[in-house]
Amino acid sequence: MQKCGRHTIRVCHGTACHMAGSDSITGVLKEELNVDVDETTTDGKFTLKTVTCLGCCALAPVMMVDDKAHGRLARDTAKRAIKQYKRHE
Ligand code: FES
Repeated sequence: MQKCGRHTIRVCHGTACHMAGSDSITGVLKEELNVDVDETTTDGKFTLKTVTCLGCCALAPVMMVDDKAHGRLARDTAKRAIKQYKRHE
C-alpha cells in the first residue's frame, strides 16, 4: 500500500462538481503536483484523490484539503489554495 502524504486532497467528482468542471480542477492539480490520482508527491506532502460528493454541492466544484473545504474553484484558485499549504510547511 502506498504511503499517504502529509496533506490529502480530495477533489469531488460527483454530478454537480463534474458539471461545474471538476475534471479541469483535477487536471491542474495533477500538473501542479506532478502526480496522478491516488499518488503521493515525491516530497511526501500531498496525496491526490477523487471522491464522489462531499455533501456541499452548492459550492461546486469542491475539493477538501485535509478537513477544509475549498469551493467554487477555478483552475487558478485551486492552484493558489495548494500553494498556501506548500508555504505553510
Ligand atoms: S457533487 Fe461535489 S459536493 Fe456534491
